[in-house]
This record gives sequence, C-alpha cells and structure tokens, in this order.
Amino acid sequence: MFVNEHIAGMPAGYLFSEIAQRVKAFSASHPGEKVIRMGIGDVTRPLSPFVSEAFARAAREMATDKGFHGYGPEGGYPFLIDAIIREEYAPRGISLSREEVFVSDGAKTDTAAIQELFSPDAAIAVTDPVYPVYVDANAMAGRLGRYLNGRWERLVTLPCTHENGFMPELPRERVDVLYLCYPNNPTGAVISHDKLRSIVDWAAERGTLIIYDAAYRAFISDSSLPHSIYEVPGAGDVAVECCSFSKTAGFTGVRCAWMVVPKGVKGRLPSGGQVSLNALWRRRLASKSNGVSYPVQKAAEAACLPQGQKEIAANIAAYRQNAAILLEALRGLGLPVQGGTHAPYLWLKAPGNMTGWALFDFLLDSARVVGTPGEGFGPSGAGCFRLTAFGSREDTILGAERIREALLAL
Ligand code: MLT
Repeated sequence: MFVNEHIAGMPAGYLFSEIAQRVKAFSASHPGEKVIRMGIGDVTRPLSPFVSEAFARAAREMATDKGFHGYGPEGGYPFLIDAIIREEYAPRGISLSREEVFVSDGAKTDTAAIQELFSPDAAIAVTDPVYPVYVDANAMAGRLGRYLNGRWERLVTLPCTHENGFMPELPRERVDVLYLCYPNNPTGAVISHDKLRSIVDWAAERGTLIIYDAAYRAFISDSSLPHSIYEVPGAGDVAVECCSFSKTAGFTGVRCAWMVVPKGVKGRLPSGGQVSLNALWRRRLASKSNGVSYPVQKAAEAACLPQGQKEIAANIAAYRQNAAILLEALRGLGLPVQGGTHAPYLWLKAPGNMTGWALFDFLLDSARVVGTPGEGFGPSGAGCFRLTAFGSREDTILGAERIREALLAL
C-alpha cells in the first residue's frame, strides 16, 4: 500500500518529542543530576480539591446501576456546555447556543482537526513563530506543498518579531484561513481590542476564516484586553475559537477542552453556495469521535463553577508569579524579553549571534535547564528561545538563578 507522502516528508520529529528525546539522552548520560524543565508548557500543580472530588464522585457514580454512563453525546454533555456558556462567555456579554460549543479532549486535537473542513487547496496563513500543530496538521493533509530550505512552499507566514512588537501585518495575497493565538504561544504577546477588530473586519471583507486559539486567556491580567474573539462585533461570522482546561484547571493529563463553531460562520462550496461550518463540524464529529468521558466532563464542569474557579485562580496566580520571577531574572541580564505578563511563556533573544538550538544546548549543558529553541516554532523564531512558567516555585527560582549564572559567565 502507498503511504501519505506528506506525512512521510515531514521535517524532523515533532518539536516537543524531539526535545524530550534530547533531554532523556542528556539525563541518561548525567545520572543523578537535576534537570529543570521549562520546555513544554506542561502544568505541575495538582488538580484543585473541588475538581478532583467531582472527578472521583463521577467515577464512583459510574460504578452504580443508576449512575453508569455509556456513550455520551459526541459533542459533550449539556451540563458542561451550559457551564461553559454561563461561566466563560455570558459574563463577557457573549451569547452562544448549546449547539455552538463542542467539548473535546484538547485544543491540540481541535486545532489539528479543524483543517479537515478546508478544501485541499485552501491557502493557510499563520503568525510566525507559531504553535507547530497548526502547520503540521495542514502539512500532513498536503495543503502546504514541499518543505524547502526551512519553509513550506504554500504556507503564508506573518512574522512576529521583537522588531515589529510581535504584531502581524496582514497578508495582501489570498488567504482562506488564518490561525491566531492570543495570549500567544510561543511569544507571550497579547492583542488589543483595536487590533483584533481590524483583523476580524479584514477577514469579513475577504471571506477568510479565523481559527482563534484562546487556550491561555486565563493568564491575561488586564481585564480590558480581549479574552475571546467574540468580544469583537462580527467575529461570530468569521471565527472559530478553541479553549482548554489544560493550562487553567491543570488538565494536561486529564484532557478536556472546547471549541466554539458559531452558526454564523459559513464556508463556500466549489459548486457555488454556502455551507454552515457548524453543520460540517457536527457531521465530522459524529463519524470520528465518541466524545470525552463522563468523569472528565464532570471534573471540567466543576472547574467552571465558582468554587472551582476560586481554587484554579490560585494555581494561575502561582504560575503568573513564576513568570514574574523569570522575567525579572532575564531583564536583569539585559536580554530582550517578551511575554510573561499576560501569558505563561517568556520569549527571549539569544545572546550575541547564538541560535535558539545553540542556547538550548548551552543551557542544558551548563545550567541543566531545558527551554524550547525558537527555530522549532518557525523561521521568525530563529535566534530566540522560549521558557515556560509552569514549573514548581522551587524549580523556577532555581532555574532562573542557574540561567542567570550561566549567561553571565558566557
Ligand atoms: C507548548 O509547550 O507549547 C504546549 O504545552 C503544547 C501543547 O499545549 O500541546
């Protein structure tokens, strides 16, 4: 049988798997040495008591005749969808119907799968640097052409650099789909209402679909910044939004997220006429998923409720404090650094002419600290480096100190 040549032709390994392998090899050759992990954005604080109790209670319910649940609705149980709409959107004046919210096992899953709704020749644009999943998923589907000299032939990239304040300039060429992520992974940049409005207006004029990844919105510390794209008038006709419980409720291992596909968003058919993206997504889901387990959805519901929100807020505050510690340490070194204020990521320029990979090797070797090289997020990430604030307080303080010492000695 013939294989998918687009997957066979993918460059190197998936960024975070590649890093995990390098760190594993390093640890194997340096037994007993403590390595501080600030590479992948994986949370470290335990589930909140309120959330874990709801999780356990639902699991116990499943062991009773009355409380047993078999297949659930593939798009999520109404109790969770209602809690998401009531607690996450209604307070911001956003009104959504139950049919517009789809529960899944992760924003990674959703942002990777949504491209199945696009035509094979759809023109895709991403900010650069970017969370690699958006690009890889489209590349595997054959939409991006060949990978030549570190670039995808058919991918439109919008550079976001220290020089342009990390704000993309909108493309002039035809773009069918634009992926955005704010607060941004990897740069930690945030977007203003005005800028977001200008992008929504641009998309509406051109018939471009926006995939808006808002997985980090709980880290925004200024309530006047947009937490959802639907705060912008007209976004309900042009944007799909992905959110997650991973980084807020500590669900990276539990797995639960949601995607909003408003009924107002339409796609064009090659034969002419329009089709509802919501209907397409529902159709796809029915064939490809049996949804997320009942106990996980009960745990996610608890994370939305006031007591859950209160307990989760303490975790988010602790990660924010970590980010502040790292930010202070890096600023003290005089390195250009971005993020860390409204996002759990810090994005710095490597010293001198170092590449991100060279800084990765240097910090692993001399400081026993793991970060993520900017090159892994796209061409505009060259010479940059990402650190996450999701470690324990102890590791964050130690990591900041080790990075400081290593870079001062450079
Ligand atoms: C990251 O480090 O960029 C994220 O943890 C990856 C993810 O959420 O899949």
